[in-house]
Amino acid sequence: MSTYLQVPASRPLVGTVEVPPDKSISHRALIFNGFASGNATINNLLVSADLASTAECLKRIGVSIEEGKVYGRAGTFQAPTQPLDCGNSGTTLRLLIGLLAGQPFLSELQGDESLQGRPMGRVTDHLRRFGARFEGPTNGRTAPLHIIGGPLINQGVDSPIASAQVKTAMMLAGIQGEGTLRFSEPTVSRDHTERMFRAMGIEFNDWVDEDGTHFIELNGPQQLKCIDVDVPGDISSAAFFIVAASIIPDSNLYIPHVGINPTRSGIIDALLNMGGSIEITNTRTVSGEPVGDIRVRHAPLHGTTIDETLFTRMIDEVPVFAIAAAMAAGTTTVHGTSELRVKESNRLEGCLSLARGAGGLARTEEDALTIQGRNSTPKAQLVIDARNDHRIAMSAAIAGLVNEGGAAISGIESIQTSFPAFLDTLGSLCE
Ligand code: S3P
Repeated sequence: MSTYLQVPASRPLVGTVEVPPDKSISHRALIFNGFASGNATINNLLVSADLASTAECLKRIGVSIEEGKVYGRAGTFQAPTQPLDCGNSGTTLRLLIGLLAGQPFLSELQGDESLQGRPMGRVTDHLRRFGARFEGPTNGRTAPLHIIGGPLINQGVDSPIASAQVKTAMMLAGIQGEGTLRFSEPTVSRDHTERMFRAMGIEFNDWVDEDGTHFIELNGPQQLKCIDVDVPGDISSAAFFIVAASIIPDSNLYIPHVGINPTRSGIIDALLNMGGSIEITNTRTVSGEPVGDIRVRHAPLHGTTIDETLFTRMIDEVPVFAIAAAMAAGTTTVHGTSELRVKESNRLEGCLSLARGAGGLARTEEDALTIQGRNSTPKAQLVIDARNDHRIAMSAAIAGLVNEGGAAISGIESIQTSFPAFLDTLGSLCE
């Protein structure tokens, strides 16, 4: 485990920041095209450890991926002769479970220590009812696990959690199964799959009822058709700089070409609700996804309340948001936070450490995180173990900017998961 010492920034963050391509869209562009008929060019695919895991797994089931081009398997993969290693990537593992459940062979899926601790029963329990079989040391409830795939009969699935990974796994199974998949989730999770499925020729209905529940109805089987994808910048990566510029006086950053899909852009709404200064210009649609250029300036923030719907729209940004809340005047409460316990690490604990490291008072109660803004700048160095979690590591570097002692972060190498150039990017702004 390496240690990284962050020198505190005494100056504003000013300039232009390029953020890496969107991780969620990159995974989907590879996996869906790998399963589809035809071939596709993916422009601006994320290069990171998580995407390397997805590409490697797909190659082991017969997908050719060369120089940004994916050659689709038209609905039938090759049986893997070796285990499929999903590394640290929950998206890779859960999406492959849905995909391989319908394939007539045995697959073995594994992951790193963090991934082995994450719940897979939220996918496998449903797919058992479709006819798929799962085995392994925890009977398919965690990795490593075996999938004994075969013909599927689509079922009704009411997911108690709003999870795009669960939804996508069900839809990948649903396009292979016979009959109707009727899926519901308590609020709309990120909708990249719905957008890409429609663009790839899949027909389904989806709607939201008056209490916010999201429904999908899809008749199987259906065949995906390859489509070229141009991947926009990742708002989850931009979020570190959006928060940093918001909280450091005199900052003024321009972040061009960022995905601003409404199911992902909750961090912007949350900061605007707190008095943040964020402008989005030049909005356009790229490969079916809304994209814009973001200008963010420092502004005094005040506390706010994040409800469960807004929480879902900023689920991966809550760790860095905890730092903004610690810098705001008054109290901020985030509702619906229990999912944070089962991310790459227990991010609820991470949020507490980050908010306290930035000088706030923080506590968790039942399903909520409450942060009271700081009264003074902390002098002691923030010492934090990122626990193999890229988003905690990068958030800690931001907390180090607003702490006189900076931050000492162990496990900083986890940034390879989503944003390998993060430290260079931050360093160039702090020079
Ligand atoms: C993702 C969905 C979210 C998110 C993860 C990526 C996706 O997970 O936290 O980083 O690409 O579908 P859940 O679906 O488990 O909420």
